Amino acid sequence: MSDDRSVMTPVAAVVVMAAGAGTRMKSAVPKVLHKVAGKSMISLAVDAADALTPDRLVVVVGHGREQVSSHLADIAPHVVVAVQEQQLGTGDAVRAGLAALGEVDGEVVVTSGDVPLLAGETLIALVEAHRRDGNAVTVLTATVPDPTGYGRIIRSADQVDRIVEQADAAPDELQIGEINSGIYTFDAAALRAGIASLTTGNAQGEFYLTDVITHARSQGGRVGAWLLSDHLQTEGVNDRIQLAERNAEANRRILRHWMAEGVTVIDPATTWVHAEVDLATDVTLLPGTSLEGATSVATGATIGPDTTLIDVEVGEGATVTRSHAELATIAAGATVGPFSYLRPGTELGAAGKIGAFVETKKAVIGAGTKVPHLTYCGDAILGEGVNIGAGTIFANYDGVTKSTTVVGDNSFVGSDSVLVAPVEIAPGAYVAAGSTITSAVGPGELAVARGQQRNIAGWVARKRPGSKSEASARQAMAERDAVQEDDK
Ligand code: UD1
Ligand code: CA
Repeated sequence: MSDDRSVMTPVAAVVVMAAGAGTRMKSAVPKVLHKVAGKSMISLAVDAADALTPDRLVVVVGHGREQVSSHLADIAPHVVVAVQEQQLGTGDAVRAGLAALGEVDGEVVVTSGDVPLLAGETLIALVEAHRRDGNAVTVLTATVPDPTGYGRIIRSADQVDRIVEQADAAPDELQIGEINSGIYTFDAAALRAGIASLTTGNAQGEFYLTDVITHARSQGGRVGAWLLSDHLQTEGVNDRIQLAERNAEANRRILRHWMAEGVTVIDPATTWVHAEVDLATDVTLLPGTSLEGATSVATGATIGPDTTLIDVEVGEGATVTRSHAELATIAAGATVGPFSYLRPGTELGAAGKIGAFVETKKAVIGAGTKVPHLTYCGDAILGEGVNIGAGTIFANYDGVTKSTTVVGDNSFVGSDSVLVAPVEIAPGAYVAAGSTITSAVGPGELAVARGQQRNIAGWVARKRPGSKSEASARQAMAERDAVQEDDK
């Protein structure tokens, strides 16, 4: 079946309507650029359309056209952009799309840019039904719990007689639960003729695309409906409430897909996985995990709880606990967290460790190297088997430029050190705890860069007389003297 589908005869064109104002979003961002599952709604519409391998794909833009066109140029350069100057209705939107196409023969599929759950397979099934039944027009319909606002499907015998809009419907027509999804396959000639026949003689004074059906029927064309039982696929987005609902549903579908593929999701209600994320079998996602962008997680890895990964690659068997990471790679068997912050350019090697309260940025950390506690590691290249002591700071910024610190294989940096970049610590070198390193340390050397310890006897008795410290010191000295007396 899927083989048949991939070699399905392409349709001549898909027209995606996306010119509407989206007023109810109350947004400076055009509606179709709002995101569902981490992707713009228009890119999801283009993805679904691409499943039909159309000869040409047109997106009709209007409101916010500069933003929508430049986004399309980035993500889908194959798309032809048509401009609808004024939003005179869906019929006018398709007219603008056809004008941009010029000559079209065969089938034209029409969809909308704000129906984010629509699957490519559904469009394929719609076109297959259209071909099988020899239709002039095939409408994708659904039975929804609340049909308010949608056009209703008026059937006669096994055909669609017409579609009546909410604003134009008689009371008995408003009772009909089968709605127009706004997604269709048209015979190109019937569409062109129907569009040419449209008028604005209706309650909203718009050119209704749905009136093409009435015209096709009057010309003796067959109009069918393809009733989709999964009605959520046809639900659009008009406001932020629906945007959140579609996002939640998209996420549920994505999680169901990955669970079916062998991923454990402990709490689907608090786990978010974007559309382009890739997960392997036996990955475990703990509550509060958000996997975004082009993140991928290899088999056996455990992510979470309360972890956000954006464009991160996680290797086999790695664990990432209560952390935030972006544009980073975490190799097989490595551990991150709890409470780590991996910024862009972090590359943690196999079985390496970035531990609690560690921030990294442009840090290449070799296999088996550990940065376990309370460290800032920026602009650093760490070899293999390095140990970075607690509280070490890679001082990478002098207020003007950023510089790099290099730490060679199997070196050891003591706790509370400051490595002032640019500086290089050779393989097999040691840095004493509390050092501030400003110049190179050679292989096998111990660098000690801190004040020599001095103990000033009697200081407390002179400077803090009568204090608890003085009392404790006096007692300790008396005990020490008594021990020395016994030893004589
Ligand atoms: C339309 C259908 C209705 C169907 C509903 C499904 C008509 C007359 N009615 O309703 O039967 O149930 O879709 O959602 O077609 N658009 C433009 N230019 C315009 C007008 C709209 O590009 O001038 C675009 C919108 O951006 C949107 C899509 O067309 O992507 C649908 O527009 P919308 O106003 O939501 O649909 P209705 O006309 O109310
Ligand atoms: Ca409308």
